[in-house]
Amino acid sequence: MKPEWIARQSSRPRGWLGQIVARVMSYETIQVNRIALDELEVGAGESVLDVGCGHGRTLAALEREGKAGFVAGIDPSEVMVSLASRRLHKAMGRGRAEIQHTESSRIPYEDGRFDAALAVHVLYFWPDPAADLAEIRRVLRPGGRLLLGYRPDDAAARAALPSSVYALRSTAEVEKLLLAAGFDSVHTHVHPLGEAPFACARAEVLAA
Ligand SMILES: C[S@@+](CC[C@H](N)C(=O)[O-])C[C@H]1O[C@@H](n2cnc3c(N)ncnc32)[C@H](O)[C@@H]1O
Repeated sequence: MKPEWIARQSSRPRGWLGQIVARVMSYETIQVNRIALDELEVGAGESVLDVGCGHGRTLAALEREGKAGFVAGIDPSEVMVSLASRRLHKAMGRGRAEIQHTESSRIPYEDGRFDAALAVHVLYFWPDPAADLAEIRRVLRPGGRLLLGYRPDDAAARAALPSSVYALRSTAEVEKLLLAAGFDSVHTHVHPLGEAPFACARAEVLAA
Protein backbone atom coordinates (compact mmCIF):
# COMPACT_ATOMS: atom_id res chain seq x y z
CA MET A 1 0.00 0.00 0.00
CA LYS A 2 1.29 3.45 -0.96
CA PRO A 3 1.78 5.43 2.29
CA GLU A 4 -0.96 8.00 2.78
CA TRP A 5 1.48 10.92 2.92
CA ILE A 6 2.90 10.02 -0.51
CA ALA A 7 -0.62 9.54 -1.87
CA ARG A 8 -1.57 13.02 -0.61
CA GLN A 9 1.51 14.46 -2.27
CA SER A 10 0.62 12.69 -5.54
CA SER A 11 -2.86 14.21 -5.39
CA ARG A 12 -1.44 17.74 -5.09
CA PRO A 13 2.34 18.13 -4.58
CA ARG A 14 3.34 20.74 -1.99
CA GLY A 15 6.62 22.09 -0.56
CA TRP A 16 10.05 20.49 -0.86
CA LEU A 17 8.62 16.98 -0.56
CA GLY A 18 6.25 17.80 -3.39
CA GLN A 19 9.23 18.80 -5.56
CA ILE A 20 10.67 15.30 -5.12
CA VAL A 21 7.35 13.51 -5.65
CA ALA A 22 6.73 15.62 -8.77
CA ARG A 23 10.08 14.69 -10.30
CA VAL A 24 9.62 10.97 -9.59
CA MET A 25 6.09 11.15 -11.02
CA SER A 26 7.32 12.79 -14.21
CA TYR A 27 9.24 9.57 -15.00
CA GLU A 28 6.69 7.11 -13.59
CA THR A 29 3.87 8.32 -15.83
CA ILE A 30 5.74 8.61 -19.13
CA GLN A 31 4.38 5.32 -20.49
CA VAL A 32 0.72 5.93 -19.64
CA ASN A 33 0.83 9.47 -20.97
CA ARG A 34 2.35 8.19 -24.22
CA ILE A 35 -0.55 5.75 -24.50
CA ALA A 36 -3.03 8.56 -23.76
CA LEU A 37 -1.50 10.84 -26.40
CA ASP A 38 -1.56 8.04 -28.97
CA GLU A 39 -5.26 7.41 -28.26
CA LEU A 40 -6.02 11.14 -28.43
CA GLU A 41 -4.68 11.25 -32.02
CA VAL A 42 -3.79 14.96 -32.08
CA GLY A 43 -4.11 16.41 -35.59
CA ALA A 44 -2.13 19.17 -37.26
CA GLY A 45 -2.68 22.60 -35.71
CA GLU A 46 -5.03 21.38 -32.97
CA SER A 47 -5.35 23.03 -29.55
CA VAL A 48 -4.90 20.61 -26.65
CA LEU A 49 -5.62 21.04 -22.93
CA ASP A 50 -3.91 18.84 -20.30
CA VAL A 51 -6.04 18.85 -17.13
CA GLY A 52 -3.87 18.18 -14.07
CA CYS A 53 -0.82 18.60 -16.30
CA GLY A 54 1.52 18.22 -13.33
CA HIS A 55 5.21 18.45 -14.28
CA GLY A 56 4.37 19.34 -17.93
CA ARG A 57 6.34 16.47 -19.45
CA THR A 58 3.39 15.31 -21.57
CA LEU A 59 2.69 18.78 -22.96
CA ALA A 60 6.38 19.26 -23.66
CA ALA A 61 6.44 15.96 -25.61
CA LEU A 62 3.39 17.05 -27.58
CA GLU A 63 4.94 20.45 -28.27
CA ARG A 64 8.20 18.85 -29.44
CA GLU A 65 6.32 16.65 -31.91
CA GLY A 66 5.26 19.93 -33.56
CA LYS A 67 1.78 18.78 -34.60
CA ALA A 68 -0.35 20.70 -32.10
CA GLY A 69 -0.92 24.39 -32.79
CA PHE A 70 -1.35 25.34 -29.13
CA VAL A 71 -1.02 23.42 -25.85
CA ALA A 72 -2.30 24.43 -22.41
CA GLY A 73 -2.05 22.91 -18.96
CA ILE A 74 -3.92 23.60 -15.73
CA ASP A 75 -2.97 22.40 -12.27
CA PRO A 76 -3.82 23.57 -8.73
CA SER A 77 -0.35 22.69 -7.34
CA GLU A 78 2.11 25.59 -7.30
CA VAL A 79 5.00 23.10 -7.41
CA MET A 80 3.60 21.55 -10.60
CA VAL A 81 2.78 24.87 -12.26
CA SER A 82 6.31 26.08 -11.65
CA LEU A 83 7.87 22.85 -13.03
CA ALA A 84 5.60 22.81 -16.09
CA SER A 85 6.18 26.49 -16.77
CA ARG A 86 9.96 25.97 -16.69
CA ARG A 87 9.66 22.99 -19.01
CA LEU A 88 7.52 24.88 -21.52
CA HIS A 89 9.00 28.36 -21.21
CA LYS A 90 10.26 28.51 -24.82
CA ALA A 91 6.88 27.50 -26.26
CA MET A 92 5.18 29.92 -23.86
CA GLY A 93 7.43 32.70 -25.15
CA ARG A 94 6.33 31.90 -28.70
CA GLY A 95 2.63 31.95 -27.69
CA ARG A 96 2.33 28.21 -28.38
CA ALA A 97 1.75 27.16 -24.76
CA GLU A 98 0.12 28.34 -21.53
CA ILE A 99 0.20 26.94 -18.01
CA GLN A 100 -2.43 28.14 -15.53
CA HIS A 101 -2.67 27.69 -11.77
CA THR A 102 -6.24 26.52 -11.29
CA GLU A 103 -8.54 23.54 -10.76
CA SER A 104 -10.60 21.71 -13.36
CA SER A 105 -13.82 22.92 -11.71
CA ARG A 106 -13.08 26.41 -13.16
CA ILE A 107 -11.16 26.25 -16.42
CA PRO A 108 -10.14 29.77 -17.50
CA TYR A 109 -10.98 29.36 -21.20
CA GLU A 110 -14.03 30.16 -23.27
CA ASP A 111 -16.55 27.56 -24.47
CA GLY A 112 -15.26 25.40 -27.32
CA ARG A 113 -11.65 26.66 -27.04
CA PHE A 114 -9.99 23.24 -27.48
CA ASP A 115 -10.03 20.47 -30.06
CA ALA A 116 -8.87 17.89 -27.54
CA ALA A 117 -8.18 17.41 -23.83
CA LEU A 118 -6.52 14.79 -21.70
CA ALA A 119 -6.55 14.13 -17.97
CA VAL A 120 -4.28 11.34 -16.74
CA HIS A 121 -4.39 10.05 -13.14
CA VAL A 122 -6.52 12.99 -11.96
CA LEU A 123 -10.05 11.53 -11.80
CA TYR A 124 -9.53 10.01 -8.31
CA PHE A 125 -8.95 13.42 -6.74
CA TRP A 126 -12.07 15.24 -7.96
CA PRO A 127 -14.59 15.71 -5.13
CA ASP A 128 -17.39 16.04 -7.73
CA PRO A 129 -16.17 14.34 -10.94
CA ALA A 130 -19.42 14.95 -12.84
CA ALA A 131 -18.98 18.72 -12.39
CA ASP A 132 -15.30 18.68 -13.45
CA LEU A 133 -16.05 16.54 -16.49
CA ALA A 134 -18.87 18.90 -17.50
CA GLU A 135 -16.44 21.81 -17.19
CA ILE A 136 -13.93 20.01 -19.48
CA ARG A 137 -16.76 19.25 -21.89
CA ARG A 138 -17.62 22.99 -21.93
CA VAL A 139 -14.20 24.00 -23.29
CA LEU A 140 -14.25 21.39 -26.10
CA ARG A 141 -15.52 22.37 -29.53
CA PRO A 142 -18.21 20.37 -31.36
CA GLY A 143 -16.35 17.30 -32.64
CA GLY A 144 -13.77 17.58 -29.85
CA ARG A 145 -12.71 14.75 -27.55
CA LEU A 146 -11.36 14.00 -24.07
CA LEU A 147 -8.96 11.20 -23.21
CA LEU A 148 -9.46 10.31 -19.54
CA GLY A 149 -6.70 7.99 -18.32
CA TYR A 150 -6.95 6.23 -14.96
CA ARG A 151 -6.35 3.07 -13.01
CA PRO A 152 -9.69 1.25 -12.81
CA ASP A 153 -11.09 -0.12 -9.56
CA ASP A 154 -10.03 -3.70 -8.84
CA ALA A 155 -8.68 -5.65 -5.86
CA ALA A 156 -5.04 -4.87 -6.70
CA ALA A 157 -5.74 -1.13 -7.01
CA ARG A 158 -7.62 -1.13 -3.70
CA ALA A 159 -4.67 -2.91 -2.05
CA ALA A 160 -2.16 -0.45 -3.53
CA LEU A 161 -3.85 2.95 -3.16
CA PRO A 162 -5.29 4.35 0.10
CA SER A 163 -9.04 4.97 -0.22
CA SER A 164 -8.69 8.08 1.97
CA VAL A 165 -7.02 9.77 -1.04
CA TYR A 166 -7.90 7.71 -4.15
CA ALA A 167 -11.58 7.41 -5.16
CA LEU A 168 -11.33 4.40 -7.50
CA ARG A 169 -14.04 3.73 -10.07
CA SER A 170 -14.89 0.91 -12.47
CA THR A 171 -14.82 1.52 -16.22
CA ALA A 172 -18.65 1.26 -16.28
CA GLU A 173 -18.94 3.95 -13.57
CA VAL A 174 -16.57 6.25 -15.45
CA GLU A 175 -18.43 5.83 -18.74
CA LYS A 176 -21.68 6.69 -16.96
CA LEU A 177 -20.08 9.82 -15.46
CA LEU A 178 -18.82 10.96 -18.87
CA LEU A 179 -22.22 10.54 -20.52
CA ALA A 180 -23.90 12.35 -17.59
CA ALA A 181 -21.40 15.20 -18.06
CA GLY A 182 -22.69 15.74 -21.60
CA PHE A 183 -20.32 13.73 -23.79
CA ASP A 184 -22.12 12.05 -26.67
CA SER A 185 -20.14 8.81 -26.90
CA VAL A 186 -17.49 6.98 -24.86
CA HIS A 187 -15.23 4.05 -25.70
CA THR A 188 -12.89 2.54 -23.12
CA HIS A 189 -9.75 0.61 -23.85
CA VAL A 190 -7.96 -1.04 -20.91
CA HIS A 191 -4.20 -1.53 -21.36
CA PRO A 192 -3.02 -4.44 -19.19
CA LEU A 193 0.43 -3.03 -18.17
CA GLY A 194 1.21 -5.79 -15.68
CA GLU A 195 -0.30 -5.30 -12.22
CA ALA A 196 -1.53 -1.78 -12.84
CA PRO A 197 -3.96 -1.74 -15.77
CA PHE A 198 -4.50 1.65 -17.37
CA ALA A 199 -7.93 2.57 -18.69
CA CYS A 200 -8.32 5.10 -21.49
CA ALA A 201 -11.84 6.45 -21.87
CA ARG A 202 -12.15 8.41 -25.10
CA ALA A 203 -15.21 10.64 -24.81
CA GLU A 204 -16.43 12.56 -27.83
CA VAL A 205 -18.59 15.58 -28.44
CA LEU A 206 -20.78 15.37 -31.53
CA ALA A 207 -19.73 17.56 -34.44
CA ALA A 208 -22.14 20.45 -35.03
C1 LIG B 1 -0.99 11.93 -10.05
S1 LIG B 1 -0.69 13.55 -10.67
C2 LIG B 1 -0.73 13.26 -12.44
C3 LIG B 1 0.00 14.31 -13.20
C4 LIG B 1 0.07 14.09 -14.71
N1 LIG B 1 -1.23 14.16 -15.32
C5 LIG B 1 0.71 12.78 -15.02
O1 LIG B 1 0.07 11.90 -15.60
O2 LIG B 1 1.91 12.61 -14.67
C6 LIG B 1 -2.20 14.36 -10.37
C7 LIG B 1 -2.18 15.82 -10.77
O3 LIG B 1 -3.51 16.34 -10.74
C8 LIG B 1 -3.49 17.59 -10.13
N2 LIG B 1 -4.84 17.85 -9.58
C9 LIG B 1 -5.35 17.47 -8.38
N3 LIG B 1 -6.58 17.93 -8.23
C10 LIG B 1 -6.89 18.61 -9.37
C11 LIG B 1 -8.02 19.34 -9.81
N4 LIG B 1 -9.12 19.46 -9.04
N5 LIG B 1 -7.98 19.93 -11.03
C12 LIG B 1 -6.88 19.81 -11.82
N6 LIG B 1 -5.76 19.15 -11.44
C13 LIG B 1 -5.77 18.55 -10.24
C14 LIG B 1 -2.40 17.49 -9.07
O4 LIG B 1 -1.93 18.73 -8.62
C15 LIG B 1 -1.35 16.68 -9.81
O5 LIG B 1 -0.47 17.48 -10.54
